[in-house]
Amino acid sequence: MNPDAAHETTAAEAVMEAVDLTQSYEVSRGLFAKSATVKAVAGISFRLAPRSTLAVVGESGSGKSTLARMLTLIERPGEGSLRLDDVDVAEADARTLRRYRGEVQMVFQNPFGSLNPRQTIGKAIEEPLLVNTSLSAPERRERALDMMKRVGLRPEHHGRYPHMFSGGQRQRIAIARALVLRPKILVLDEPVSALDGSVRAQVLNLLVELQEQLGVAYVFVSHDLGVVRHMADEVLVMYLGRAVEHGPREAMFDAPLHPYTRALLSATPVADPEAKKERIVLEGELPSPFNPPRGCPFNPRCPLVVERCRVEMPPLASKGAQRVACWVTGVEAGATVTSG
Ligand SMILES: Nc1ncnc2c1ncn2[C@@H]1O[C@H](COP(=O)(O)OP(=O)(O)OP(=O)(O)O)[C@@H](O)[C@H]1O
Ligand SMILES: [Mg+2]
Repeated sequence: MNPDAAHETTAAEAVMEAVDLTQSYEVSRGLFAKSATVKAVAGISFRLAPRSTLAVVGESGSGKSTLARMLTLIERPGEGSLRLDDVDVAEADARTLRRYRGEVQMVFQNPFGSLNPRQTIGKAIEEPLLVNTSLSAPERRERALDMMKRVGLRPEHHGRYPHMFSGGQRQRIAIARALVLRPKILVLDEPVSALDGSVRAQVLNLLVELQEQLGVAYVFVSHDLGVVRHMADEVLVMYLGRAVEHGPREAMFDAPLHPYTRALLSATPVADPEAKKERIVLEGELPSPFNPPRGCPFNPRCPLVVERCRVEMPPLASKGAQRVACWVTGVEAGATVTSG
């Protein structure tokens, strides 16, 4: 986390800039029904400053993983642009894409899925170097050992297999593998959701250390605001594919504006049990993405709902340091309306 980096980012400073990223899927609904379209991500915009952390938070189904897949170039955005070094990779040809694939790497929730059980972890960490660089075998080994040391693995682990490691160690292996090409950006999709207690805290601390050492920027996806409380520079809250609020960490935690952010925050355990907190319970389920509600997508669950919310979608508008999409707490006279 770099306290100076994230705020007031200009385009020139950003390592990544997303503008109106959108992704839809055609989903078959059975033999006789017409297929339906799910708008998994509906216009997300942000700038990521070097060495900073953007946390993307929202309930299951809000579109976080779809966004992560677009950011890592696993999926081409349906619409919108994604700029890396001022090159729009959303439209790029295969050769340009290859060049940028090394610069944005991904860590998944379950590292077992991405680790081959018959490959030693040393080979697994060296593999990206084998595919993307012309380093010799001894050079690859040296780089892998260096990265293993940085993530807290010992040299003798090099020849061992994934099943010989605990969940926390496996996530360290996945992080080493993602960082071995020295990407500028790491996209982490729920990287500690499968870990608990002290192991979770250790991996989060490791990520903070690695960011300081290597200067990598993070997009950190989590359904849990508590997890990102200490490491995010900025927080972007998603609801049904849209950004409902986005701002610097302090503002998002101390003075959240959107009723959805407030509800998420009130469901997050606090370290100090004496701290008084109004608990807002989110009623109802996330609406079907096939048939999102008219107006503000949060209106059926919102404690502050007014008539306008049921008919008109609130724009994401600046209010202080935040951007918020809410007719009640957000839009004010003279506010600048931005997309995303
Ligand atoms: N490949 C796909 N084909 C069809 N629909 C998809 C596909 N990927 C995602 N979706 C749909 O898009 C929406 C967003 O899904 P996504 O996985 O991005 O959410 P998420 O925020 O990552 O959820 P979770 O917290 O459960 O991981 C969901 O309604 C999901 O069913
Ligand atoms: Mg997901």
